[in-house]
Amino acid sequence: MTQLSVVILAAGRGTRMHSDKPKVLHELAGMSLVQRVLGSAHQLNASRVCVVYGHGGDAVPKALQGSDAICVLQEPQLGTGHAVQQAMPHVGDDSQTLVLYGDVPLIQPATLHQMQKYESGLVLLTVNLANPTGYGRIVRNNQGDVTAIVEEKDASPEQREITEVNTGILLAPTRLLKSWLGRLKNSNAQKEYYLTDIVGMAVEDGVTVQTAQPQHEWEILGVNSKVQLASLERTWQMVEAERLLTQGVTLADPARLDVRGKLECGRDVEIDVGCIFEGKVTLGNRVRVGAYCVIKNAVIADGSHIAPYTHIDGSTIGAECRIGPYARLRPGTMLHNEVHIGNFVEVKNSDINRASKANHLSYIGDTTIGQRVNVGAGTITCNYDGANKHRTVIEDDAFIGSDTQLVAPVRVARGATIGAGSTITRDTPEGELTLSRSKQTTISGWQRPVKKR
Ligand code: UD1
Ligand code: MG
Repeated sequence: MTQLSVVILAAGRGTRMHSDKPKVLHELAGMSLVQRVLGSAHQLNASRVCVVYGHGGDAVPKALQGSDAICVLQEPQLGTGHAVQQAMPHVGDDSQTLVLYGDVPLIQPATLHQMQKYESGLVLLTVNLANPTGYGRIVRNNQGDVTAIVEEKDASPEQREITEVNTGILLAPTRLLKSWLGRLKNSNAQKEYYLTDIVGMAVEDGVTVQTAQPQHEWEILGVNSKVQLASLERTWQMVEAERLLTQGVTLADPARLDVRGKLECGRDVEIDVGCIFEGKVTLGNRVRVGAYCVIKNAVIADGSHIAPYTHIDGSTIGAECRIGPYARLRPGTMLHNEVHIGNFVEVKNSDINRASKANHLSYIGDTTIGQRVNVGAGTITCNYDGANKHRTVIEDDAFIGSDTQLVAPVRVARGATIGAGSTITRDTPEGELTLSRSKQTTISGWQRPVKKR
């Protein structure tokens, strides 16, 4: 198969964003516009990806560091044809070149595959729009063959009536593309080197010009302002919501869900309103997520319930757990099956084994908790001595009384009981009651002070 090179145009200024950040670095569903386009390019197994950037200094190359994209500076910006030309030295003659736009973030690989089905010639992605204003129009002859693209500013009144428009996305044999780009002139209304002028050249050279259409209109919508960005974000979130609903997920309100990454759900999952899912989140069968939870990079196993206003990040949760409301699970949290974490409990970098519970107001950090442990209200693991972090170990069947501080490193042995209000600084023995608490006394006959007259 012919190799594929992708050129992503991203040099435009983005004036209407009213931002110091280059337009293509603004985010849609948690990922920058240009990263989304790069993602689609990668799904096509492109052998070479070039990003043509212009504004914002080296912000774009910096943001793309670590990807295999080649960043090419276009300075000054003399039009879309000139932009593609800047990338040509990096692209092999025998490849096919696909031109994508950094500010058209939702183009789907399936649509691009559709374009790749044509074996040769120039392939344009076009779309019929009820309101074609602002777009280049696709001009066809009596046989229905494409003969040119006319930019709106250069179009005659009759041409402006055409509703089939140029999305800007095209696929061309690189050798031909290079020769056409070399012949571009800027004798037009905008004094720019229009990429679209290659269509007329292809026709002159007897090269077939084919067209393909996107599966969804939203795939070719561009972002020029915050209004368009917000609108496209909602469009995308509705696409995600419909995908989940189609799979059988229950969403209390598909318009009040935000997926900023990849959400995978088992059967009979229920998600209440206002939840945000970030990174990669996997929910097992029968998982229920209450209102206004924020869940990032997490795996939650079958039958677990997450009550409202819970934050979960970088955590693994076993089956049949009960979490929240108002719980916070931080990175490195590993909960085994049937664990209960209640309100205002924070857990970090800790392993909590089967059927253990911390139901109220606690901090559990750098801790290993065994099975069937009960952590009383207000228990704090003091894991940080100001310089280093230390581990706390609580073995199976231990009972930690309320308002206990466990000063790490420390170990509470199997079956031990800690009396409420204790500060535990040394390991405690198996099966025994340990407490550190001054004896309670009563001063009989003591009088409360009274206000002086
Ligand atoms: C372009 C097309 C038009 C099409 C429309 C779809 C041309 C001449 N016209 O018009 O037919 O209907 O897109 O949205 O191609 N860019 C650069 N360097 C430049 C100029 C532009 O990188 O010198 C980038 C922009 O950042 C943007 C894209 O190319 O991502 C399109 O540029 P824009 O100026 O928006 O072109 P349009 O006039 O909208
Ligand atoms: Mg445009």
